[in-house]
Amino acid sequence: MVSRVIPVEPFDLVIFGGTGDLARRKILPGLFRRFCAGQMPEGSQIIGAARSDMDDAGYRKVVADAVGEFGGGRDCESGTLDAFLNTIHYVTTDAMGDGGWETLNGKMRDGHVRAFYFSVGPSLFGHLAERLHRFGLATPDSRIVVEKPFGHDLETAKALNATLAEHFDETQIYRIDHYLGKETVQNLMAVRFGNMLFEPLWNSQYVDHIQITVAETVGVGGRGGYYDKSGAMRDMVQNHLMQLLCLIAMEPPAKFDPDAVRDEKLKVIRALEPVDWHHIVRGQYAATEDEPGYRDDVENPKSRTESFVAMKCHISNWRWAGTPFYLRTGKRLKARASEIAVVFKDAPHSIFGADAGRHRNVLAIRLQPNEGMTLDVTIKEPGPGGMRLLDVPLDMSFADALGPDAEEAPDAYERLIMDVIRGNQTLFMRGDEVEAAWAWTDPLIEGWQTRNDVPKVYDAGSSGPEDALMLMHRDGRKWREIKA
Ligand code: BG6
Repeated sequence: MVSRVIPVEPFDLVIFGGTGDLARRKILPGLFRRFCAGQMPEGSQIIGAARSDMDDAGYRKVVADAVGEFGGGRDCESGTLDAFLNTIHYVTTDAMGDGGWETLNGKMRDGHVRAFYFSVGPSLFGHLAERLHRFGLATPDSRIVVEKPFGHDLETAKALNATLAEHFDETQIYRIDHYLGKETVQNLMAVRFGNMLFEPLWNSQYVDHIQITVAETVGVGGRGGYYDKSGAMRDMVQNHLMQLLCLIAMEPPAKFDPDAVRDEKLKVIRALEPVDWHHIVRGQYAATEDEPGYRDDVENPKSRTESFVAMKCHISNWRWAGTPFYLRTGKRLKARASEIAVVFKDAPHSIFGADAGRHRNVLAIRLQPNEGMTLDVTIKEPGPGGMRLLDVPLDMSFADALGPDAEEAPDAYERLIMDVIRGNQTLFMRGDEVEAAWAWTDPLIEGWQTRNDVPKVYDAGSSGPEDALMLMHRDGRKWREIKA
């Protein structure tokens, strides 16, 4: 298959927090895979910047270990690692002081794209932005990449936006939501806007409801300190699920360009109705014989933070009035499975009579694992005995459809980093989007606090609390099974 990778210019990429967990797990192995795919042009350099005292050789060892542990790709031939390591440098840098900044500045080259990845806690974002300016590293076309959490609520998100805006223009700020870098999430736009088949039916006249599920099997062990202050609502719904909701519900943008797409997403968030608290279920996973429960994991026996949330939302606009969107996400559930299901309405009249049962078309877009799409269609059950109906899936696994020679899909981070280098903000959140998302989630979280809401306990390995099942059951609907 011919490579359709868009070439990029040689670049200087500085990773603040270059020795941290995210850099080692995702950013550095991802860059190595892009290097192997021939996408890192000659003359590019990657500079790790962190507090630890280290030289280039020491950091190259960190990078080599990270690549060894978290993976090269199919295209990585032996010997490539040494060539990649030659592009790596390190500068000991004090994010809150003045140490290292002059040296870092000395490494930056005029005429190259400059990207600064803030792979550090949000409390350092402002310090880094200010120093990049003060020490003359930031040029007008430099870019900064910021990780979630982007604020803890509307007020902190606004403050963060304001701090970054003191030093950088919005066109220079790349707020990462790694869900937007996932292959299938982008495919969602291709499916919706590249086919004639779906868009005419994509509205409340034909769609009964939409379900979005992001289920995980992992617990929060190891991240308890952060997670207990966040919960599923802040950690997953405000960002990842909200982005999925936007892409599934937005109007067709006039073109696939950053502001056209983000304008449409913003309109969806602003059209979200406040959620009735009877329409939200929160949960915490229980301990099993072998594994700790949520409260053990976060070492807070009285914690009221949710590790699961399910809710019914409505979007107040012409396209979606009357169509519920059911969202759910949680930890320690029965399978790692993320999907969006568009459940169409029943045919207006069954010519086959009541015995034929109720049959519905469902378009399910599987985000992970086994990325693909299925469309349930109704057919006649084969054989004699009259007209009995049966739902069968038209099944398209992307891996099968594209075949073994297809290019290996880059991981979300790889793709997003290359988009930063190319200067393409389409898959990054704009400041106003993030604020609008907080403006919608804040009252829900405040409501739980005022009501002293206690999350329901659910069994690890289940589909979440019973009440979440009831949330749909009451409406005469049911969740799709969580299966890998
Ligand atoms: C992160 C959350 O943003 O996304 C984690 O902080 C969560 O709690 C993770 O586990 C899920 O990402 P993925 O790509 O594994 O679905």
